[in-house]
Amino acid sequence: MSFTVRDGEFDVAVVAGPLVSQWPSPGAAMISSMCAGAGLRVGLFGEDSISARGVIPLAGSGGLVLAVDSQQRIHRIRARAVVRVSALAFLPDPFKGWRAPCLLPVRTAELLWSDSLVSWDAGVAILGTGNRAFRFGAALLDAGIKSVTCIEPFADWGAKRFAGWEVERRRFEVAGGIMLEAVPVEIRKKGPMLWRFVVNEGPKEKTLDVAWIVSAGPFRDSPGIREYPPGSMLFEIEQTAVENREHDLEGWELERERGRYLASKIIKSLSEKYDREAIDRAHKLSRTRLKRFVRHRAEPFTPAYDGKWIAAADSKKLRSAAGVPQKAQRLRVVASVECFESIACDLCAAACQKGTIKFSGSKGRSHNETVCSGCGYCVSACPAGAIVLMKEIEGAPFAQVTFPWRGQRPWQTGEQAGLVNRRGEALGSGRISNVTPSGAPVQLVQVEVPAHLAWDARGLRRLKTDAAADDAFIKAETAVPVQKVEIMLNGEKRLVREGIVVSVALLETGLGRAEDTLLCPDGSCNLCTVVVDGVNKLACRTLVHKGMSIKLPESPDPEVVRDKPDAPLCSCMGITFGQVSERISQGDLKSPGAVRGAVHACEGKCHGITCGEAFRRALVTSGLDAAGWIDWRFPWQEWKLTK
Ligand code: SF4
Ligand code: SF4
Ligand code: FES
Repeated sequence: MSFTVRDGEFDVAVVAGPLVSQWPSPGAAMISSMCAGAGLRVGLFGEDSISARGVIPLAGSGGLVLAVDSQQRIHRIRARAVVRVSALAFLPDPFKGWRAPCLLPVRTAELLWSDSLVSWDAGVAILGTGNRAFRFGAALLDAGIKSVTCIEPFADWGAKRFAGWEVERRRFEVAGGIMLEAVPVEIRKKGPMLWRFVVNEGPKEKTLDVAWIVSAGPFRDSPGIREYPPGSMLFEIEQTAVENREHDLEGWELERERGRYLASKIIKSLSEKYDREAIDRAHKLSRTRLKRFVRHRAEPFTPAYDGKWIAAADSKKLRSAAGVPQKAQRLRVVASVECFESIACDLCAAACQKGTIKFSGSKGRSHNETVCSGCGYCVSACPAGAIVLMKEIEGAPFAQVTFPWRGQRPWQTGEQAGLVNRRGEALGSGRISNVTPSGAPVQLVQVEVPAHLAWDARGLRRLKTDAAADDAFIKAETAVPVQKVEIMLNGEKRLVREGIVVSVALLETGLGRAEDTLLCPDGSCNLCTVVVDGVNKLACRTLVHKGMSIKLPESPDPEVVRDKPDAPLCSCMGITFGQVSERISQGDLKSPGAVRGAVHACEGKCHGITCGEAFRRALVTSGLDAAGWIDWRFPWQEWKLTK
């Protein structure tokens, strides 16, 4: 193949790093529109038509972006400032059994969940307790998966990095999810499609038997924007908007604010003619908003518990919160808006036709109880289940509480429902007095709740006696006729779904390898090679068809990770943690880039997809200042630069 090299020049180049999920992401779009508005020439490199393959930092400031277009022409673009948009770390640090095929990146898990027949019934562990982890966990529980555990490996910072964390956690726990602060120790195979996950919960060892372990993170507690080296005008911004805006409002808002902050900084440094007042205002605004996100961890009100009951002082605080009705609930049905954090969502306010719900800063939502009609639109709209309708009846043994229900099997009037508190712990039961018709994604269920539980019961659960009927219903509802075809897999006959990619077929039949967990979105990592009808092909890009023969190459060593420091850090290149720290301790390598160049980590077949983040952490652990380090080489595809 021959290459044409073209040269170009921009003031600002915004480039997408590996695994960035949508382009331009909100941060990139914000930087590009603000900088262009200030008269700077901006280039965006991340689409199929032109994507960046790496950046060569230039002496002083700025860099040379090497980009390739759809006709494989190489463009060398000089830019005075370069911003790399980076995906969040998607795999945890290595531990024993870490690359077992049951460990799925959350992106892959979501894909398999929506569009495949892999079985989740044996239970799921989710590594990470960010909003996305909770949301995925709650979706599994709503669909009838019995056991879902979210594991937070970084107890010291508790993943409260995104606004909305408290409400997402509440929804997950109310749906029956368990949250654990524990460090992963080992994954062992226990049976066909069954794995034993060993974790250390403080000093205690705990084992979970699961079908899948989903790696959701976040695994890095970073500032989100870096400049490396300082003063170089080479920046990195984290992509937090990973889903569409409707489902990930907080991630979008955070990334946009970071984009605004960075754009105003770049404009101030590079532009000669810009509206100084407007840019100063934007800079100040974004700084205040970003501080709010940073402060968030300490901010939201998380009630303390005394057994299953909210501790007396916090119960008083909760009852006097601005969204919680004080008197009206004794006269008629009104909403209790129990969302106690500064959060951008506001779907409840948009749904309320009376305009009663307002944002009240770091205290969350306020609610005008005198105007509320008790219509329940806000209850259906709230994705976090943070709103109920209430009516307390004087002298009656029960109160009327209306809960949102997202489970598979709808409730019927007259049924007895289990009641759980805000952490999902069973409190008692109540009779269902009214329901909205089934069919809508959220059913409103009015329950006669024993009066003493009215302020503690915040979720519904099927009683144990109903569990079998629940299972039967879910099985009947979810059974879909599937067209299967016969193929030869390693010389044995197998029935698999027609038209799916080979990777998914391997995962569905329990023969998936770690390489088949769809580590990249487009086949660029090149890891999942299989032999199809005698020809090497990528499993993630090849569709199953009748009669095909698939052979899996021998895996040299399935147990790729042993205990540190002999644990291979980069399994493609066979580099261990020990080797990295030994090389650093020799003392002559001054920068993270120099260490990488010397040990050749991240230069293997997967181009650092699986080891990149672990390498960064290994550098920090070895005492090198690598927290702000940006890896500018992303040799995503092999090519040679010829003139
Ligand atoms: S119940 Fe109806 S009127 Fe009351 S806050 Fe909710 S949407 Fe508004
Ligand atoms: S819909 Fe309202 S109550 Fe629910 S999470 Fe969003 S802001 Fe909070
Ligand atoms: S593990 Fe593949 S390059 Fe390091």
